Amino acid sequence: MVRIAVLISGSGTNLQALIDATKRKYIDGEIVLVVSNRIKAYGLERAKNANIKAECIKDEKLLIERLHEERVDLIVLAGYLAIISEELINLYENKIINIHPSLIPSFSGPGFYGIHVHNAVYKRGVKVSGATVHFVSKEVDGGPIILQKSIDISSCNSPEEIQEKILLNIEHNLLVEAVKLFCDNKLKVENERVQII
Ligand code: GRF
Repeated sequence: MVRIAVLISGSGTNLQALIDATKRKYIDGEIVLVVSNRIKAYGLERAKNANIKAECIKDEKLLIERLHEERVDLIVLAGYLAIISEELINLYENKIINIHPSLIPSFSGPGFYGIHVHNAVYKRGVKVSGATVHFVSKEVDGGPIILQKSIDISSCNSPEEIQEKILLNIEHNLLVEAVKLFCDNKLKVENERVQII
């Protein structure tokens, strides 16, 4: 079974979706470790409630050590707001999955995280937005795209409304689907493109 580590910084609703999907065996994998770089992240409580090891780690050397100790096969960044080093990216090439709350390459790259993404989306007045799940490469939000889904946001009246609409309607399912595909060994990366086999 694929051994999964989930890295978070906040409330962890995406983490919860993964916990639920692994518990009901929809995903053929086990979350063996949850790490937050913020002690107060509510996601740590969610992990403890599910009897999953939950740790606050700020130092990346220590993080890499823990990933090795737990024999982690797949790292999922679910609202993780720290920068991942090149060393870690190389150690887990095409084995780190990130969820980004826009349709990459729009509203992505350095500075586009959390509510900043939706602020820019709202300001630009786009009618459609969405989320993207991708493998992590050295380029911020530039790795091979696994899945994307869009949604009409023309009726949303604030960045917060857009954020909630995308989180609840798209992100949770999209991340679960991508992790399921990885665990079922159905993702093949060729020339920086992901093929679902
Ligand atoms: C999500 O919108 C995710 O895409 C973004 O941060 C948010 C995390 O939400 N990068 P949660 O902690 O999973 O509730």
